[in-house]
Amino acid sequence: SDQTYDYDVLVIGSGPGGYVAAIRAAQLGLKTACAESCETLGGTCLNVGCIPSKALLHASELFDEAASGKLAKLGIKVTAELDLDQMHAQRRDAVKSLTGGIEFLFKKNKVTWLKGHAKFTGTDSVEVAGQTVRAKNIVIATGSSVTPLPGVTVDQKVVVDSTGALELPKVPEHLVVIGGGVIGLELGSVWKRLGAKVTVVEYLDQILPGFDGEVRKEANKIFKKQGFEFKLSTKVTGVTVQGDRASVAVEPAAGGEGETIQADAVLVAIGRRPNTDGLNLEAAGLQLNKRGQVDIDHDFRTSVSGIWAIGDVAPGLMLAHKAEDEGIAVAENIAGQHGIVNHDVVPSVVYTSPEFAGVGLSEEAAREKVGEIKVGKFPMLANSRAKTNHESDGFVKIIADAKTDRVLGVWAIASVAGTMIAQAAQAMEFGATSEDIAYTCHAHPTHSEAIKEAAMAVTGKPIHI
Ligand code: FAD
Ligand code: NAI
Repeated sequence: SDQTYDYDVLVIGSGPGGYVAAIRAAQLGLKTACAESCETLGGTCLNVGCIPSKALLHASELFDEAASGKLAKLGIKVTAELDLDQMHAQRRDAVKSLTGGIEFLFKKNKVTWLKGHAKFTGTDSVEVAGQTVRAKNIVIATGSSVTPLPGVTVDQKVVVDSTGALELPKVPEHLVVIGGGVIGLELGSVWKRLGAKVTVVEYLDQILPGFDGEVRKEANKIFKKQGFEFKLSTKVTGVTVQGDRASVAVEPAAGGEGETIQADAVLVAIGRRPNTDGLNLEAAGLQLNKRGQVDIDHDFRTSVSGIWAIGDVAPGLMLAHKAEDEGIAVAENIAGQHGIVNHDVVPSVVYTSPEFAGVGLSEEAAREKVGEIKVGKFPMLANSRAKTNHESDGFVKIIADAKTDRVLGVWAIASVAGTMIAQAAQAMEFGATSEDIAYTCHAHPTHSEAIKEAAMAVTGKPIHI
């Protein structure tokens, strides 16, 4: 270690980007610290994001299976009664155990946790809890937070953001969700399953931006079938709260006559924005790009030597696994190795029921980028395992380059699409053709066979349809 510095590496933020970078840096023999202002480690993902939302999605899905008669159809008679306090308690337990796990991993790997808010005092120094710390390398991994909607005040009681929506003390009668993206659909599903009426107001003409067009359309159909109401191409012009009720004023996105929707809970989920406030980036000589992000090169270097950035605060998809992979790569680059993340192959998953997953290009993007493409599709209805499990909603779709057969994108709607998409990501990472997937032996009966059959459909014919 260079004695002029307190640390070889100082990571700011302990989310999936920051904690992974810190652990990998320490594993590579670098003296490492991680500054975190929250009382627990793990960032958005572990505290108020991926983990608590999945805890509620899992529990509410089981409740729905019992309450809606799905279990009865399988010959299991139960009377379902909601114990929301216990459901929240198991959510808090999951978070506690996982954030505690990161604290354990920090100790095990000798990563020092600097408790407090970090702000730059120079290009190689930050102040944390009144102390100045010098580090040879500083990694900005400060993540993101909820984008506010002008004119709408989040009080975390009636009008909530994703954090408040994880903690509602009772099931709302009518939940209005502003934004038909991932958070709106996941947390909307939780409260829908527990008994709420859910109306999603989306500015664009379709939900789930970023996903393949056909998948978006099918998602809309499936959620409608589940009882969701959608107001597409609609904007919210204001929310007024009176007591424990809210009036949500909406009007067509293109303008025109408006209406008011009554609700007893409103979830604002219109996206997230990078956390850079209070970092004092000026002291480091760093500027933000137009989207408020810290720009980086392929190696995760910012414009200032020795300062790096990863995760939600940097450009790209705002996903935990993208942040984690960047965390490993940045630590390896700091250690003089060659850490790379292939941003063309980052899977996206919506953990509803069914799950919606994709990796690579959508059909529209592939047509635009590559030109001639071939598309193979296979419905879950024709997959023996899905059909047996009464989970026949959805399909798998594979998009390949018409000339080379190389797989450009894979999309899946299936009960376990999030798990299935891993093999597609791996195949694409290895530069697979659709034929490679079609001739790979898949275990029977599994949902994953639908991926094999969709691959068979790209150039030839699947067997089961
Ligand atoms: P973050 O996790 O945001 O962590 C940043 C940390 O930095 C925070 O702990 C913050 O307190 C700390 N910090 C910030 N500034 C400072 C400072 N100046 N000094 C000290 N500490 C600071 N992604 C998925 O891939 N899958 C999912 O299922 C999923 N579900 C989600 C559900 C919800 C409800 C939400 C909100 C998000 C979800 N995400 C999911 C997104 C995921 O949480 C983020 O992409 C991920 O957490 C980004 O990681 P990060 O390390 O960049 O930042
Ligand atoms: P999002 O970007 O997924 O969706 C926001 C939606 O709100 C978009 O459809 C957008 O068109 C719409 N919108 C924007 N302004 C609006 C307005 N004024 N009125 C009505 N609609 C409006 O963002 P979301 O759902 O808030 O999630 C934030 C991010 O968190 C996601 O992009 C994702 O990166 C991450 N996340 C990931 C999850 C996962 O991987 N399963 C789960 C939850 C969040």
